[in-house]
Amino acid sequence: MVKRLRELALIYKGLSDDSFRVLLTLNSLGLKYEYVPLEEIERITKLTPSRIIKSLKELIDVKAVVKHKTTQSFRLTYLGLDLVALKKLSDSGVLAYLGTRVGVGKESEIYVAKTPTEKIVAVKFYKIGRVSFQKIKRVRAYALDESRWFSLSRNAASREYTVLSKLSNYTSLVPHVYAHVEHSVVMDYVDGVELYRYKKALMPEKILRSIMSALRSAYVDLGIVHGDLSEYNILVSVSEGEKPYIIDWPQYVYRDEPGAEKLLLRDVSYMVKFFKENYGLEKKVGDCLEFVKGLRDEI
Ligand SMILES: Nc1ncnc2c1ncn2[C@@H]1O[C@H](COP(=O)(O)OP(=O)(O)O)[C@@H](O)[C@H]1O
Ligand SMILES: [Mg+2]
Repeated sequence: MVKRLRELALIYKGLSDDSFRVLLTLNSLGLKYEYVPLEEIERITKLTPSRIIKSLKELIDVKAVVKHKTTQSFRLTYLGLDLVALKKLSDSGVLAYLGTRVGVGKESEIYVAKTPTEKIVAVKFYKIGRVSFQKIKRVRAYALDESRWFSLSRNAASREYTVLSKLSNYTSLVPHVYAHVEHSVVMDYVDGVELYRYKKALMPEKILRSIMSALRSAYVDLGIVHGDLSEYNILVSVSEGEKPYIIDWPQYVYRDEPGAEKLLLRDVSYMVKFFKENYGLEKKVGDCLEFVKGLRDEI
């Protein structure tokens, strides 16, 4: 059975002010409690019990909140956390409009959105644990609550924001970032096609060179290695002359960490192999590695 997803933007628009107050409270108490007791919600929101019950009902209906099986206590779902992040991004003037979901990755969902100045941006919501959580739930009646994963998602968003904001100083081959709140990152929307779907590049060699120069900026200027580079984490913007954008950076490592060299070799050889298999390009992994490390100026 396929469940129709109600759009996030619709749910957001439909929520009352009371419900947002309850959501924000559940979020801020989520570090202290796995499930937040009703009395705590009353104490913090200062809403009357009947208004809180009404809000909780609304939030449970849209699956933003779940109730504990036996006690009068409640916690956010990932959808609830999305709504909290959106509320904060909207209140702080980062976002003015949320559009539809434009991407689903291994551990994230990406939405298109607009800033108050009508700039089109992408909002990446980390959903770490979501896949494994659903798998566990299918085979076992008892599963860890997905809220246990929130801190990992918040951490990934913060890492990706930090690295992208620094990298933008050195290369234009990554999206610009604007903000990060909770488990979300707001960045430039890249109007592009993932490299794995972009089969007939006109200038494959130029694309490969650009990818290597982005890795070089990361390595030489910032001292980091991407660590998960593949045709899934590169978006090619056709309208900008097949310009590649390297995305998905939260797993980056510093070049002096143990294992960094191995990851760099993996990233570089993976790309060289991809362009050899798809376009017959004969580049040497060793030459590309030297280029990325700043030991030669051409490839
Ligand atoms: N800035 C962006 N602009 C447009 N689409 C994006 C952007 N970032 C991600 N996407 C889309 O979302 C997908 C997943 O994003 P990604 O950052 O790779 O997340 P994951 O960690 O889940 O793999 C990408 O393959 C791409 O299709
Ligand atoms: Mg990815």
